[in-house]
Amino acid sequence: MKIISSIAEMSALAEAWRSQGWRIGLVPTMGYLHQGHLSLVAEARAGNDYVVVSIFVNPTQFGPNEDFLRYPRDLDKDSDLCREAGVDVIFTPPAAEMYPEDFDIYVAPDELAGQLCGRSRPGHFRGVCTVVLKFFHIVRPHNAYFGQKDAQQCIILERMVKDLNLMDLTLHRLPTIREADGLALSSRNVYLSPAERQQAVVLRQALLTAERLFAAGEHDSAALLEAMRQELTKADLARVDYLEIVDTARLQPLQQISGEALVALAVYFGKTRLIDNTLLREK
Ligand code: PAF
Repeated sequence: MKIISSIAEMSALAEAWRSQGWRIGLVPTMGYLHQGHLSLVAEARAGNDYVVVSIFVNPTQFGPNEDFLRYPRDLDKDSDLCREAGVDVIFTPPAAEMYPEDFDIYVAPDELAGQLCGRSRPGHFRGVCTVVLKFFHIVRPHNAYFGQKDAQQCIILERMVKDLNLMDLTLHRLPTIREADGLALSSRNVYLSPAERQQAVVLRQALLTAERLFAAGEHDSAALLEAMRQELTKADLARVDYLEIVDTARLQPLQQISGEALVALAVYFGKTRLIDNTLLREK
């Protein structure tokens, strides 16, 4: 396994692979890898000749009061995990090379960025789209892998691929990986105190409540949201940022669910903001 930090070197290697007809899989990450990331790597390994994992804590997707500086980092451990998982290259460029001083051009989603997480994280999805598009240009993947835990990110990136005509690239959305008690894996879970960690299971429990009621025939969003809110009140350390039921194309709130709906929520425990979601589908 190679660790490459130069954009020119990564790009030349990707070009060489492509010219020989090899297929490239990319797993973009911010590092501090967990089983969720490794499930993306396993899928990439199975479906491509070469697998690249990018590790880059992207400054442009963090707001001024967010956790960019304290975001957990451990390249040594990440390297061991990637080596064991059969990764060919870790690409970890320096921020100064990704964003030189005169950097000026961003890629910004419009309507989709104003919904759900975009409301409390203005500029976040502009940073995500910009960095992911840069990685697509540098690594030239045929396939790229993302986790359903970041449902809005997946929907926005899928739209970017479509709207900007990124041909010859398939995005793969893989299921959320969870702890035994249901908490979705996230690099940010390390911020939680033991008491917060215990209570964080309410996110999943609220989603399961919605799934259960929906399966029993409740298709009215207000009723589902109210039942979820009740569930969340069981955690006295939880502060709800948002709790919404939206359509999966434009992320607009739905009154009644017919077809498919995304139930998404973000909850603060202290300064730590956790997200989770589930899809409801009419049979
Ligand atoms: O999901 C993440 O870890 C990040 O948003 C991503 C896609 C690697 C872009 O920085």
